[in-house]
Amino acid sequence: MFAVRFERFGPPEVLARGELPEPHASPGQVRIRVRTAGVSPVDLAIRAGKSRISLPHIPGVDAAGVVDEAGPGAAVGDEIFGAVDVARLGGATAEFAVLAFWAAKPPAMPWAQAGAAASGIETATRALDLLDVREGMTVLVDGASGGVGSLAVGLALARGARVIGTAAPGNQEFVESLGATPVPYGTGFLSRVGPVDAALDVAGKGSLPALIEVTGRPSAVVTLADFNGPAHGVRVSVGELGGEPDGRHGLAAAADLFTAGRFRVPVEAVFTDAAAAHRAAESGPRRGKIVVALSE
Ligand SMILES: NC(=O)c1ccc[n+]([C@@H]2O[C@H](COP(=O)([O-])OP(=O)(O)OC[C@H]3O[C@@H](n4cnc5c(N)ncnc54)[C@H](OP(=O)(O)O)[C@@H]3O)[C@@H](O)[C@H]2O)c1
Repeated sequence: MFAVRFERFGPPEVLARGELPEPHASPGQVRIRVRTAGVSPVDLAIRAGKSRISLPHIPGVDAAGVVDEAGPGAAVGDEIFGAVDVARLGGATAEFAVLAFWAAKPPAMPWAQAGAAASGIETATRALDLLDVREGMTVLVDGASGGVGSLAVGLALARGARVIGTAAPGNQEFVESLGATPVPYGTGFLSRVGPVDAALDVAGKGSLPALIEVTGRPSAVVTLADFNGPAHGVRVSVGELGGEPDGRHGLAAAADLFTAGRFRVPVEAVFTDAAAAHRAAESGPRRGKIVVALSE
């Protein structure tokens, strides 16, 4: 099969198309012919050599496409979106990819949105569950404009919460377009936010003391990206690809919300050139997800 892969660690230019053996679905998995794949920070970190994995490596943890090796609840020909197994940490930017968890793609959901989102939806869902985000709450999302943050904003709004989202000064209108009240991050950030019921640190830029102050207690804060969390009494939500299988319930719920017109996946740009996609993902500021289109 064709795959976008790299044979040495380095800048986006190490990515190139080549031929690699096809993967096959193990029991409990499914194989798709890939239409679109998302680009995530973990893909950039692995490509740059920050993780010890064997080469060649095919980046991409999120994908959408058409089933060609059936799995539980997914027949050949079904259109689905999902994510790879955590042990692979890649494989999506190829002709065929094996998914470990998935949901049916709503017919009206564009392929770009479907391929971008699975691990981010599960990650955001898990964090909002930990914070017990419910109707009527005010939630602060620190890092609201990026891939995971923009999904967390949408999913919190769908739960009936009011959302305040931090972003770069140039991203205030974008955060507002998501339905959140925008606030610039950085110096004096606290003075721009009133009391909130819960806070999600997506960015991991050292804001935990401020988030504890604005919520009044560490237990009302969860971080996805600051591993000093426990030193502040703050829970770290880990599990890049959605945590334990039993805990995953975000994809089907998000698909239903999409169909009901209450949720969408913010997509910043779609590239056919994976190196260009990685370059775009490495340069801020972010406005949702960067996507690679693999096939028509
Ligand atoms: N724990 C888990 O299970 C899990 C899962 C997925 C991802 N993650 C981690 O979560 C983080 C975010 O992932 P992502 O996909 O959303 O990344 P992303 O798309 O690159 O977005 C990064 C976000 O951080 C914001 N940001 C940058 N500097 C900031 C600052 N000083 N204060 C507040 N926000 C700031 C950016 O805002 P602007 O663009 O407006 O500057 C943007 O919204 C990464 O570290 C990733 O590794 C963890």
